[in-house]
Amino acid sequence: MTDRYAVIGNPIEHSKSPAIHAAFAAQTQQDIQYDRILGDLEHVEDDIEEFAADGGSGMNVTVPFKERAYDLCDTMSERARDAGAVNTLVFRDSHVYGDNTDGAGLVRDLGCNHRFDFVGARILLLGAGGAARGVLRPLLEQRPDRLVIANRTATKAHALAAATATVGPAIGCGLDELHNQAFDLIINATAAGLSSQVPSIPDDCLADGGWTYDMVYASTATAFQAWGRAHGAARALDGLGMLVEQAAESFQLWRGVQPDTAPVIAMLR
Ligand code: ATR
Repeated sequence: MTDRYAVIGNPIEHSKSPAIHAAFAAQTQQDIQYDRILGDLEHVEDDIEEFAADGGSGMNVTVPFKERAYDLCDTMSERARDAGAVNTLVFRDSHVYGDNTDGAGLVRDLGCNHRFDFVGARILLLGAGGAARGVLRPLLEQRPDRLVIANRTATKAHALAAATATVGPAIGCGLDELHNQAFDLIINATAAGLSSQVPSIPDDCLADGGWTYDMVYASTATAFQAWGRAHGAARALDGLGMLVEQAAESFQLWRGVQPDTAPVIAMLR
């Protein structure tokens, strides 16, 4: 019998997840069906439970439901607990297991696809909301030399840094405290891009040869990619590779096989 999966979010019509998982399934000869579901903003819990009760095997969860899906889980991975949010659900015998593969997706895209060397790197993570929280532990596990979390609201950055102190040292600060610091990698995990804005950071905070990474993607360069290019970034990347890599981690969790991501990233480009 064909196993059923779906991605749930709101909005959802532009999600690339069905195309990504269809490509993985074809490549690895897995018999699955993968749909998109528009989650109800008030009752998404019912939508998820209904899909599971109907025999669904698993789900991907996207904006704005990752925290609410977390609350539905019976058990979860350590990285999901750290993130306080899940993007992957596994349903088995009325049991709901949650995982968060976003951070692993980011690290794999940067480290494996683009060969960024994390060890000894000075990293600036912009934002202290759900997106930043979801990638913090996997970033710290790469043992960078320095990881600074900078947020428009400084107190949230301080709190996030303090919450992950057991994994590795991170420094929290406000966006306006970044003067006279240079970073080898600046990751944009803010929601500023939704309104075509860029977080206001000093012009000189990207080191010579430094990279920028925007966790979102678009058909044209994102505002933060444009910032990177204008400020001399050696690489100014968007989040398409992260999207495919986080999907591959979910697929691996569900199906027990690791798909080849490179042809899928190329197809989407
Ligand atoms: P997400 O789950 O996408 O992270 P969120 O939890 O609402 O969404 O967090 C949004 C993040 O983007 C926050 O860090 C927010 O900063 P504040 O905590 O100060 O609100 C940040 N953000 C949103 N718009 C921004 C802008 N125009 N410039 C800088 N940061 C912005």
